[in-house]
Amino acid sequence: MTWFYDPRATYEHNREHGPFGAFATPAEHAEPGVPEMDFLGNAVHRPFGIPAGPLVNAAFCEAAFEHRFDIAVYKTVRTRAHPAHPFPHTLAVHVEGDLLPDRAAPVLADDALDQATSISNSFGVPSRNPDEWQPDMARAVASAAEGQVLVGSFQGSRPLAQGGDAAYIADHVTAARLTAQTGAPVLEMNLSCPNEGTGSLLCFDTELVARIAAAVKEEIGDLPLVLKLAYFADDAALRLLVNATAGIVDGYAAINTIPATLVDAGGQQALPGKGRERAGVCGASIRWAGLDMVRRLVRHRADAGADVTIIGVGGVMTADDAETYAAAGADAVMSATGALLNPGLGAAVRRVSWPSFTAL
Ligand SMILES: Cc1cc2nc3c(=O)[nH]c(=O)nc-3n(C[C@H](O)[C@H](O)[C@H](O)COP(=O)(O)O)c2cc1C
Repeated sequence: MTWFYDPRATYEHNREHGPFGAFATPAEHAEPGVPEMDFLGNAVHRPFGIPAGPLVNAAFCEAAFEHRFDIAVYKTVRTRAHPAHPFPHTLAVHVEGDLLPDRAAPVLADDALDQATSISNSFGVPSRNPDEWQPDMARAVASAAEGQVLVGSFQGSRPLAQGGDAAYIADHVTAARLTAQTGAPVLEMNLSCPNEGTGSLLCFDTELVARIAAAVKEEIGDLPLVLKLAYFADDAALRLLVNATAGIVDGYAAINTIPATLVDAGGQQALPGKGRERAGVCGASIRWAGLDMVRRLVRHRADAGADVTIIGVGGVMTADDAETYAAAGADAVMSATGALLNPGLGAAVRRVSWPSFTAL
């Protein structure tokens, strides 16, 4: 296995011993050049990087920067420690063609990761306590070279006791404040993982998202805030979300994953544990969905007359895929599965020029 995050080892093992593969060794030296593009007010060589997930701590972020991914998103953190789902989290998902959101038929998932172009991502958003992740995220921020940006991803947790929406909103505000204290120049709020206690995704609750976004922006002021979204099959709902939040936040990142029922060769549930019959799938089979979201976000942004950055995520396996996203209107592009399979993707993207990206 040559991936920099080893899916055949536990999340804890990765955190303690990674990164692996190409990220464990220094990148070839190359002249950095002058950063000439913009990413949410930050000069970058290319508005291209690795989204929340595979970069589980500062050592991974530093390696990503070193290997010329110019945006590194530090894996989503919380206000309190939270365990990962039982191992494994990442299996090869054998889906033919595009994975559609309403797919009823189960999909085969196994550990034949060497041939995979789509994988599962079922971690449960583990987090350490802030007193552990804050100094580590600050190290990640400091490891960005000129023309590179560390993004701090966070999410709110439902209160353990009673407290309702007010406590849930307050937890987002606390998470944002703790993340901002690390010096991260851009924050991303993950709205696309199961909203604990409801089984649905927070990003589909427009009214609550608008309240949370307003409270978080009130706390962090001018620091750019990006909302991480799931795939919206309902375009009217996406329009409502943009209309309700584009005046508050600074950007949208889409998409996270598309859920599917994953089974092993015997037809049994592939990932162990209750509630994991379905799991999020990422990689080549969801590219269509990320592109579709970017195109629709571009349209809704224009209709709203809003000035927000659109970050295209999903199935970017090559520099050509990144250009396709740029041509669809993405202001920035990120790759998780593609970067795992090809750690040279950042350097490959540095070699191409994309006129559709915003120059400084
Ligand atoms: C190993 C792994 C862990 C992930 N963890 C997170 C996370 O903590 N927070 C988040 O917002 N997205 C997470 N994601 C989703 C990615 O940010 C991205 O949205 C998704 O993988 C689609 O991109 P891709 O097709 O390039 O993989 C994770 C993805 C992977 C592969």
